[in-house]
Amino acid sequence: MKITLNGADAQVDSPPLTPLLHVLREELGVLSAKAGCENGGCGACTVLIDGSPRRACLTAAIAADGSEVTTVEGLGTPEALSPVQKAFVHFCAAQCGFCTPGMVIAATAYLDKGGSGSREEITEALAGHVCRCTGYLKIVDAVAAAREGDFDMSVAAESPHTQVRA
Ligand code: FES
Ligand code: FES
Repeated sequence: MKITLNGADAQVDSPPLTPLLHVLREELGVLSAKAGCENGGCGACTVLIDGSPRRACLTAAIAADGSEVTTVEGLGTPEALSPVQKAFVHFCAAQCGFCTPGMVIAATAYLDKGGSGSREEITEALAGHVCRCTGYLKIVDAVAAAREGDFDMSVAAESPHTQVRA
């Protein structure tokens, strides 16, 4: 099997019914997608498959054969974060970070599909993504801000959210 992983060709040699999550983490060494519940319930393993968010724990490797698979590593780089990644930093929308890759992937898919950015719609788009740390409000703040466009990372240290946490 072959997939395009974050823009590069990747050969997959795992058995066809191996969960894509295990292929990513154990065979291909991409560790951002997390093994939370491994039962479709937490969203921590979410990746984009041909642009749509999918639970990698429930997706057999063979189902991704020939597809483009994108993880957070494929959205931006540390030097050039994607708008959603920047917004998560700016709004302190990650604490332990376990849920964050799945949240960022789902938020990216939502915005790429032209989401309105209303809090209700963002909440619905992220339904099924469990976060044990943040209380979700900062995550919704971040996604709403990302929808409005890029912003200056130099002000991240002055963010009211950052100051509250300091
Ligand atoms: S690990 Fe896939 S949904 Fe929880
Ligand atoms: S930041 Fe810890 S689970 Fe979401």
